[in-house]
Amino acid sequence: MAQPLVPSTAFADAWIQVDRTENPRFFVNLLDATRARLLERARQSPREFFAPLALRAGLNVLDVGCGTGDFLRLLAPIVSPGKAVGVDLSEIMIGEARQRSSGNVDNLSFRVGSVLELPFPAASFDRVLATQLLLHVPDPRKALVEIKRVLAPSGVISISEIDWGTLVVQSSDNELGRRFSDLACRELRNGLIIRELPGHLRELGFNHVVILPEVEVTQDLDALYTWFVEPSLTHFKRIGAFSEAEADAFIADLKERARNGRYFSSRTYYTVLASQSS
Ligand SMILES: C[S@@+](CC[C@H](N)C(=O)[O-])C[C@H]1O[C@@H](n2cnc3c(N)ncnc32)[C@H](O)[C@@H]1O
Repeated sequence: MAQPLVPSTAFADAWIQVDRTENPRFFVNLLDATRARLLERARQSPREFFAPLALRAGLNVLDVGCGTGDFLRLLAPIVSPGKAVGVDLSEIMIGEARQRSSGNVDNLSFRVGSVLELPFPAASFDRVLATQLLLHVPDPRKALVEIKRVLAPSGVISISEIDWGTLVVQSSDNELGRRFSDLACRELRNGLIIRELPGHLRELGFNHVVILPEVEVTQDLDALYTWFVEPSLTHFKRIGAFSEAEADAFIADLKERARNGRYFSSRTYYTVLASQSS
């Protein structure tokens, strides 16, 4: 018997099985919308954008959970003739990444695979990147062990995550606003993973750990509103954490705030760079 499809708005379950969701294209479109601003920054000056990774020609780079591969495509020319490889569990994401990269730099490749069992020999890469992946993975520590296995001893890991515990979507109804933020964090599998990450990395032998924080504030209904706030409310209604009336009131208030120049949302991004310097 065919297994039921996963609701696209049940993010914790959906992101670990994109191909089995009601609408896998939803996730491609979500990444396009929510990455647009950052990607534009990367396009303007790839070398500046990737400067913290200290890239140079000849390095081999792996992006785990690469999604549509847009960032890796900008990075690949910097390390050529070194390899730029993207891995993702979703065939649809990898198909999209390959299609967007056809005719692109020839040191770039994509393959389907899991961070829990990477299809590469030990010490294959000089840099391993993972952006908004560990928050979804059922066993993030096991993922880190596997990432470390494929990293060369002199290599650098770069992990970027949002701290979902500090998400703000300001509502005129304080209780609803807090409930939304608390649920958003709780309903994502590892919403607070970034707070444990430096400790995990040190435990795994990375004695050089650098944390780069960045806060993003938006004052208008933005991509996060469209692709995260509204879909999350659909999920919260489904699990009975918001009534229909509460969700409607929450949305109406956010729209009213936006009309009056009072919309305020913020999230904190962290990139953790880790290496084993002697
Ligand atoms: C939130 S998206 C991030 C995509 C991309 N890194 C970005 O920031 O634009 C998470 C990605 O991780 C993938 N993923 C989920 N579980 C995975 C696993 N065990 N191994 C590899 N990729 C996985 C999903 O298919 C999805 O493309």
